[in-house]
Amino acid sequence: MNSEHNSISVPETETLTRTYWDRLWSRFLRHQGMIAPSGKLVQLLLPHVSRGGLVLDVGCGEGRNTIYPGRIGFRAVGLDLSRKAVKLLSNNLFEEEVRGAAILGDARRLPFSSASFHGVLAHNLFDHLDGNGFTDSMEEVWRILRPEGVLLMTLDPLPEGISEKETVRRDDGVCVFVSGSRKGMLIREVPENEIVDLANRGWNQLKDERTPRGSRILLLKKRGQSV
Ligand SMILES: C[S@@+](CC[C@H](N)C(=O)[O-])C[C@H]1O[C@@H](n2cnc3c(N)ncnc32)[C@H](O)[C@@H]1O
Repeated sequence: MNSEHNSISVPETETLTRTYWDRLWSRFLRHQGMIAPSGKLVQLLLPHVSRGGLVLDVGCGEGRNTIYPGRIGFRAVGLDLSRKAVKLLSNNLFEEEVRGAAILGDARRLPFSSASFHGVLAHNLFDHLDGNGFTDSMEEVWRILRPEGVLLMTLDPLPEGISEKETVRRDDGVCVFVSGSRKGMLIREVPENEIVDLANRGWNQLKDERTPRGSRILLLKKRGQSV
């Protein structure tokens, strides 16, 4: 552990992580880049959403997975905490001539009405939130989904070879990079008991599988009568 930082507070982490994501997406913005969409992954979600349905890509980054459903007949909305990511998504929607919305916002307090979305994608978002962030975001996603709406999320294992010199472990166990190129990145492995507990929070599990590289893919359905 970094000896200069024995601990780090929640507000300090918030500032660091926002700066980290803005810095990352600024680099993309300079080159107007977009990584290829995770088409295979998004295809796990879309069969559960009727054509024309409203799909939220939460923590969308530059929007590669927002644009994909938008292009094939779904109404797509991308939301991200980073102003730079949202600017990138707006540019990419324009360039790709896809109709969709790019919203600046926080997964922990979603700026949408209850029961308004048919599907939500959270690709590599939840492993960058702390425990409270995960709980709050899952409640928010549940709230904005229509009954029987679906959530597809991915969770990465902790990366290998993290140098103890560049990270600090917060009191609640999350790991925060405090130096190096990943300075400001927060990572947390969502514990198994929190996944199991989702069944008590109104979710039915439709799929739980791992990719060859060890990422976990969970497909969850909001319990309830469709309206
Ligand atoms: C690893 S990137 C994944 C980007 C995109 N989903 C993809 O797969 O290409 C994580 C994204 O989550 C965003 N993010 C982090 N915390 C967030 C929060 N509380 N609310 C919304 N977005 C957040 C970051 O700005 C970043 O764009």
